[in-house]
Amino acid sequence: MGKIHVLDEHLANQIAAGEVVERPASVVKELVENAVDAGATSIDITIEEGGLSMIRVQDNGSGIEPEDMETAFQRHATSKLLSDRDLFRIASLGFRGEALPSIAAVARVECVSASGDSGLGRRICMEGGQLTADEHAGASQGTDMTVRDLFFNTPARLKYMKSIQTELGHISDYIYRIALAHPGIAFSLTHNGGSLLRTSGTGDRLQVIAAVYGTGTAKAMLPLRGEHADYELNGYISKPELTRASRSALTTVVNGRYIRSFAVQSSLLAAYHTLLPINRYPVAVMEIGMHPGLVDVNVHPSKMEVRFSKEAELKAFVEETARAALGGRRHIPGPESGRGERSGPVYRQEQLRFHQPEPGFAGQPASEPPVGAGAASGGSAAAETAAASAPAAGSAPPRADGARGGASAPARKGPRPAASPPGHGGRPPRRRRRCRPMRRSGFTRPLQAPSAPLPGASPPPPAMRRRLPAPHPRRPAPPPRHTPARRPSALPPAPLARARYRRRTSRVSLPPRRAATRQQPKPPDSRS
Ligand SMILES: Nc1ncnc2c1ncn2[C@@H]1O[C@H](COP(=O)(O)OP(=O)(O)OP(=O)(O)O)[C@@H](O)[C@H]1O
Ligand SMILES: [Mg+2]
Repeated sequence: MGKIHVLDEHLANQIAAGEVVERPASVVKELVENAVDAGATSIDITIEEGGLSMIRVQDNGSGIEPEDMETAFQRHATSKLLSDRDLFRIASLGFRGEALPSIAAVARVECVSASGDSGLGRRICMEGGQLTADEHAGASQGTDMTVRDLFFNTPARLKYMKSIQTELGHISDYIYRIALAHPGIAFSLTHNGGSLLRTSGTGDRLQVIAAVYGTGTAKAMLPLRGEHADYELNGYISKPELTRASRSALTTVVNGRYIRSFAVQSSLLAAYHTLLPINRYPVAVMEIGMHPGLVDVNVHPSKMEVRFSKEAELKAFVEETARAALGGRRHIPGPESGRGERSGPVYRQEQLRFHQPEPGFAGQPASEPPVGAGAASGGSAAAETAAASAPAAGSAPPRADGARGGASAPARKGPRPAASPPGHGGRPPRRRRRCRPMRRSGFTRPLQAPSAPLPGASPPPPAMRRRLPAPHPRRPAPPPRHTPARRPSALPPAPLARARYRRRTSRVSLPPRRAATRQQPKPPDSRS
């Protein structure tokens, strides 16, 4: 006696359900795909407890005819395939006729649908694959499908469900993808009363990208458009500066179906080539249109893997189109970029006027530039230039001790005058390096002790008197023993360095402490 027999329908449905309904996200996917196939323009998804408690999908599509309601829940019942030839040119998302019976086999399902505007529809309820209710019901056109207590009769499967957040993550991920794939459909996703997504359904894919990834991401997207003899490519890819740590933001859509395709993704990444850092990935939504005969979707029960009949051509086309989209703009700023585009305030370095001793003081010939004048410009000409190029400095008197800062400091940050300041011959004012004229003067002129003043010379200013040591009454001051690089300036340094300067001066340029760098030298006339 033979041992082989055909399984009864209920058991067969439960086995098939194991493949089709893997987790709550699978139920959402199948119900939403049915709504898309029905031509809905608005699809509302309501979830409770990560889909384990309740999943409801409402659409305004064509609806199910009242007499088809029960048939729709039978295995291999579909309106999408008519002949075996249709299997090789599938244009709809569903084609197997397995989703509804598989869901009904492992959950409690209520379906209310109306196929016209009469307001009259039909309601049926299924529980564990068994029909529990069948009645007329008032309904507007479309279908309202509610799935409760998923896996209530398969505890082994229920046990392996992850946390609510994990399941919700799978659901929302799918809804985001299908919303990106169909910007013309208004999607809304609600979980435990909270809205997670709402798209307008205007057909603007960039708006959906903004709803899913945020406005910042949407602003950093480049349009992707290309045509080929066999393919059409539309969508958006991110600029190279916007990257993610994983490929999760790569969405590939083929004939309206969200798929996972390593081939298409690798072609896109090849187009970015070196524009992407290592282990960083772009954000992309690529919708590829092709004749249904060029793609086989009957590969995996989840219908998310496909096979392309001309994969090499498709890869080359995707890479070329993406490269063209990226190549249209410059991604690395060049040396001339940004020139003339400064819009912020422009600050000008004012030149300070320091106190300048009169010519002839301290043994200097009248023709030589005085110690302490700017080494680069020299003499009174430098002072004139400084005064001409710094009108603000002229109005603000320099500090009496010649130190930087003080009253003239605020004048440095004034805005650049509209016209070129005088003394530049119409050229734009050159940006000057902030130099330290007092220190530099030490390079050009060794420190000299003041000799006898020339007749008629005016007494040194107080600052000079403080700094220059008086000659020893019996022996002349020895020459300085320091190197020119460390030679101190004749004029006082900045206030902050003054103490250090004093130490160095007293250490290097001899006069003993007693001779007192700090002592005020007597006025020249009283010394004699
Ligand atoms: N929301 C809906 N609106 C209109 N018709 C629907 C809807 N959901 C299901 N149907 C009808 O019920 C049939 C059975 O649906 P089911 O999902 O089980 O199979 P399918 O979509 O044809 O194939 P697949 O198993 O690949 O999804 C569909 O062919 C369709 O005619
Ligand atoms: Mg289906």
